[in-house]
Amino acid sequence: MDFISRPVDTLHGSLTVPGDKSISHRALILGAMAEGDTRISGFLDGADTNATLHAFRDMGVAIERDGPHDLTVHGAGLYGLQAPPRPLDLGNSGTSARLLAGLLAGQSFDSELIGDASLMQRPMRRVVDPLRLMNADISCSPAGTLPLHIHGGRRLHAIDYVLPVASAQLKSALLLAGLYASGTTVLTEIGVTRDHTERMLADFGCPVRREGARINLNATPLQGRAVAVPGDISSAAFPLVAACLVPGAAVQLQNIGVNPTRNAVIGILRLMGADIEVTERDTGQSEPVADIRVRQVPLHGIAIPEELVPVAIDEFPAILVAAAVAKGETVLSGAAELRVKESDRIKAVAAGLAALGIDVETRDDGMRVTGGRLQGGAVDSFTDHRIAMAFAVAGAAAQGPVRIRDCANVNTSFPGFADCMQQIGMDIEALQHG
Ligand code: S3P
Repeated sequence: MDFISRPVDTLHGSLTVPGDKSISHRALILGAMAEGDTRISGFLDGADTNATLHAFRDMGVAIERDGPHDLTVHGAGLYGLQAPPRPLDLGNSGTSARLLAGLLAGQSFDSELIGDASLMQRPMRRVVDPLRLMNADISCSPAGTLPLHIHGGRRLHAIDYVLPVASAQLKSALLLAGLYASGTTVLTEIGVTRDHTERMLADFGCPVRREGARINLNATPLQGRAVAVPGDISSAAFPLVAACLVPGAAVQLQNIGVNPTRNAVIGILRLMGADIEVTERDTGQSEPVADIRVRQVPLHGIAIPEELVPVAIDEFPAILVAAAVAKGETVLSGAAELRVKESDRIKAVAAGLAALGIDVETRDDGMRVTGGRLQGGAVDSFTDHRIAMAFAVAGAAAQGPVRIRDCANVNTSFPGFADCMQQIGMDIEALQHG
C-alpha cells in the first residue's frame, strides 16, 4: 500500500490518537504475569501490541477482548506461564522481542523468538549479554540478532549493571528478568529513557526505587489492576508537526500521554519556535495525560540538545520533517540509535528529504538539515511506519503531492492513520497494490 499525501491550505480541528504502544505492551505483559485480572482500556489495537497479545495467548494466558480497545487479561502469576507450542513470532516489534527475552529468561520452559525481516536484523546482544550475567541460558544468531533461543529452568541472580545504551527496552527486559532473580537488581542509566515499566511495576505492587540514575528492584509478586492507556505521544507527533507546518493551522490533540521521559518532541519543537500549549488532565493514574493545542507559526532551525535525544527517540522522523521547513539549519547529533530502529532512520529520512529537494548531510550519529521548500515527489518508507507517517506530514506542507511507497506498516503503531489525519484536513489517499 502506498500513500499519496497532497498539499492542503490549512489544518483545523480536534483529534484523539490510538493508545500508547509502549504502555499497551507493558499492560499486557504485567497483566499476564500478575495474580488476578487486569482490565486495560485504551489498548492500542496495532500489529506490534497484538504480537505481544498472541505471544501470551500462546503461553496459555486467557485474554478477552471486551471491545476494540478494552481487554481483560486473566493473570497467570509469575510462575503460571506455559511452554509455547511454536516459536513466538513478534513481527516488527522490537519492544515485544526485547521485553519478552527478559521475561522468558526466568521461565521453567524453553522458547524461541523470531520476527519479520526488519526485526530479524535488529541488535539483540544488548539484552543477551546482561541476561547471561544473570545466569540465563540464552543465545542469538552469530550476527547478534534473532532468532533468540532461551532455555528455561535456570536460577537467575540479580546484577548491578550499567546499561551501555540509553534503551528503555533493555532496561525493561532486565527489570522483568529481575522479577525472577534472587537479590536486588540494580541498573544504572546513561541517559533518561521512558520509565513506563517502573511506573507500572509500582502500580502492580512491585516498587522500583530510583536514586539519581540508579534504579533498584526486588522481586515481588504482581497484583492485577485497571490500566487506562493514554493516547500515544509518538503518534500525536504527526498531527503535532503537521500543525506546526501548514499555514494558519490550529489543532487540538486530546488525552495524550505526556510522561516527562517521553515528551521531548514538545520541548524540541518549542525550541524551534513552535506555539504549543499543554494542559494536564487530572486522571488519578500514574501516567500524566494532557490536552495539547498547537498553532502554526514560523519555525527556525536549532542544534537539538543531545540529552533530549532518548526522550524523543521515536519522534525524529517527524521532527526532521519540521526541520526541513524551518528557517536555517537544524543539527541532530548523539542519535546513533536511530540507525537500528525499524529502519536505519538517519538514512531513510535523509533519502526522503533529499528526494523532496531538501539539503541534508548525514553523519554516523545524526544529520544536518537546511530548511527550504519541500517539493512534491516520491519517497520510500523503508517499510518503517514512522518514516511513512513523517513523509505523509511532509506532503501536507509540500509544493506538490508526495507519494510514499510501502505504507502498510503504519498499522504497527497507528491503525487508521490516514482517516484520523483526514479529520483535521489532511489529504491522504491510500493506494492498494495489485
Ligand atoms: C520502546 C523503547 C524505545 C522506542 C520503542 C519503544 C519501549 O526503544 O524506540 O519504539 O517501549 O520501551 P529503545 O529502548 O531501543 O530505545
